[in-house]
Amino acid sequence: MVICPLCHSPLRKEERSMTCEKGHCFDIAKQGYVNLLTVQQKHSLHPGDTRQMVLSRREFLEAGYYSPIGEKLKALVQTHCPKAQAVLDVGCGEGYYLSHLSSIPQRTGVDISKEAVRCAAGKYKDTLWLTATASHLPFSDHSFDCLLSMFALTMEEEYRRVLKPDGLFVQVLAGKNHLTALKNIIYPTLVEKEKNLQPDLEGFQHIHSETLRFDFAVEENLQVKNLLSMTPHVWRISKEAAQALEQTQQLRDQGEVIFNLYKAK
Ligand SMILES: C[S@@+](CC[C@H](N)C(=O)[O-])C[C@H]1O[C@@H](n2cnc3c(N)ncnc32)[C@H](O)[C@@H]1O
Ligand SMILES: [Zn+2]
Repeated sequence: MVICPLCHSPLRKEERSMTCEKGHCFDIAKQGYVNLLTVQQKHSLHPGDTRQMVLSRREFLEAGYYSPIGEKLKALVQTHCPKAQAVLDVGCGEGYYLSHLSSIPQRTGVDISKEAVRCAAGKYKDTLWLTATASHLPFSDHSFDCLLSMFALTMEEEYRRVLKPDGLFVQVLAGKNHLTALKNIIYPTLVEKEKNLQPDLEGFQHIHSETLRFDFAVEENLQVKNLLSMTPHVWRISKEAAQALEQTQQLRDQGEVIFNLYKAK
C-alpha cells in the first residue's frame, strides 16, 4: 500500500492525484508517474541520475546488450518467489529490468531521479512509477513479496520493513571483472579496491548467489559512450580517457554480474 510521505497515512488514487486523509495531495503527471519525494528528502535540486544518463541507459539497454541480465533475473525470481503478487524495484532507472517481471501482477518502480521515473512511465504502462528515496519508501510495512536492487543501493532496514516476512530480496552487483575492457581504457593503471560482493544483511537470511558472465560486442561509438554514461565511471573519467573513448568505434567486453538472493526474516 502506498502511504503519504508526509504523514504516513494511506494514499488513495483519484483521477489526477493521490491524496491522504489529512489532505496532502500529489499530482499524477501526464506520463502517469507520481512524485512522492518531499523537499526535506531532496539533497539537491535534481537528485539521482541525470536526463542524459537515463537516455543513454535506455538506448544501450534497448539494444539488448544486457538481455542476459534481464533473463537471469526473471528465471531467479520465478524459481525463488513463484507466487509473487507484488514486486518493488528500488533505484529502478528507466524501467528495463522490472519490465522482465510482467508475470507478477503488481509492479512498482521507485527512483530518486524524476527523469528516470518519467522515462520509465513513458514506456512501461501497467506499472506504478514513483519518485521517492530508498531510505524512506512510501509504502506500509510488509507490502511486497519481492524487492529488487539492480546496480542500485541497499537499505537493509527499510527493505526489510516493506517486504513481507519470507519475502525475497534480489541484490544485483557488478562483479570485479565487469566491463574490464571499458575500465582498461578509462583507468589504464588503476588497481581496484576490493569490495564485499556478498554482504551479510541485518534481518535477512542469505539463500543463494550466482555469478553471470557474458560477452558482448558494441559496434558503434554512440553505444560505447552510452555505456560509459550509464556507469559511475562517467564521474571519474579523465580528459585523456574521454578523448580515447571518443575514438573508440568497437568494444568487445565482458559482463560479470553477481546475483545475491536473501529471504526477509
Ligand atoms: C546505476 S543506476 C541503476 C538503474 C537501474 N536499476 C538499472 O540497472 O538500469 C542507480 C539508480 O539509483 C537511483 N538512486 C540513487 N540514489 C537513490 C536513492 N536514494 N533512492 C532511490 N533511487 C536512487 C539513481 O537515480 C539511478 O537511477
Ligand atoms: Zn498525508
